[in-house]
Amino acid sequence: QETGKGAYDHYMLKEINTQPTALKQTIEGRLDVEDATVDIEDFDRGTFSEFDRVQFVACGTSYHAALYGSKLLDDVGVDSTAYRANEYDTNTGPACPDTLVVAVTQSGETADTLKAMRYAEADGATTLAVTNVVGSTAAREADHSMFIRAGPEIGVAATKTFSSQVVSLALLSRQFAMDFPDASPRADFDELAEALARLPSDVETVLDQSNARTIANRYVNDDAFFFIGRDLGFPVAKEGALKFKEITYQHAEGFTSGRLKHGPLALVTPSTPLFAIVTGRHNEKTLTNAKEAKSRGAPIVLVTDDPDAHSDLADVGLEVPSTHPLLEGLLANVQLQLLAYHAADQLGRSIDKPRNLAKSVTVE
Ligand code: AGP
Repeated sequence: QETGKGAYDHYMLKEINTQPTALKQTIEGRLDVEDATVDIEDFDRGTFSEFDRVQFVACGTSYHAALYGSKLLDDVGVDSTAYRANEYDTNTGPACPDTLVVAVTQSGETADTLKAMRYAEADGATTLAVTNVVGSTAAREADHSMFIRAGPEIGVAATKTFSSQVVSLALLSRQFAMDFPDASPRADFDELAEALARLPSDVETVLDQSNARTIANRYVNDDAFFFIGRDLGFPVAKEGALKFKEITYQHAEGFTSGRLKHGPLALVTPSTPLFAIVTGRHNEKTLTNAKEAKSRGAPIVLVTDDPDAHSDLADVGLEVPSTHPLLEGLLANVQLQLLAYHAADQLGRSIDKPRNLAKSVTVE
């Protein structure tokens, strides 16, 4: 793996642009598209047959990947909840022996996530670390590990590791669907498997054709930035806002689209662009909510695989290729990574080392 920034101005831009390679590494040897099967190292068929439910624990971007993963598990009938690791011990009763606690952590060193893992272990739960760092504390302490194989990530803002985490969780969802006693494996896993194999080239298409820089330049000096989505669009909206705020230092919020009318709408003005994630499925209400913001004068940016269908609503679009509905959110997220990057670059921010933030947060 080449170290250094290479031809890129920032590590973050390099890491965004090398996602196709990172994703190939995540998938390599684990997915058989022809047979529509997964084979994750060390996890023989039946490894997870003792469990009734999954609890994810994670922070920041990894928490958003966990939210995405939880939706993927819902889809195969596996009971799961994603917890912010720092709130885990205040939100749950004791984890049971039939609970699999999945810690999602790029570094494997985040104190809040390790604490949640230890709390669950003390209650008899089994733990699985989904991490990028072989030999990290999370990997060493967990009962099981899955490495996301994204390669080293230097930029404080996580980018390629989010994509590799979600794809790892998509692969795990197949393993869990085959193992968990009450699960119902997807009938269309062959289509999902094909879409997973195609994902690196779909990301490449986004990278080659993105107009995120133009959109960033257009709105970068506005007052605040809202990101909305439903279902799989929700974690993408959260992650889009997190990325935007952490490197631009502009105010950004991400929430489920239905929340807009319960308060945030009061903040909407012609100087608060609204980014609506309308990829995947369940988009009708997000479009309605975006219309409500538009009627208050907010510029509307739709992240979509079908810009022509919504040309009356969108001031401008961030287009992604069409793919399996469970994966389109990942492509939307790449557009939002580029948006945040170009906005921060335009503002001259310290993109790889934003103020007040550390790559790995080792204090609670
Ligand atoms: C993401 O851009 C942030 N740097 C931060 O939220 C990060 O995702 C979080 O601290 C969790 O880190 P981990 O994945 O290494 O546990």
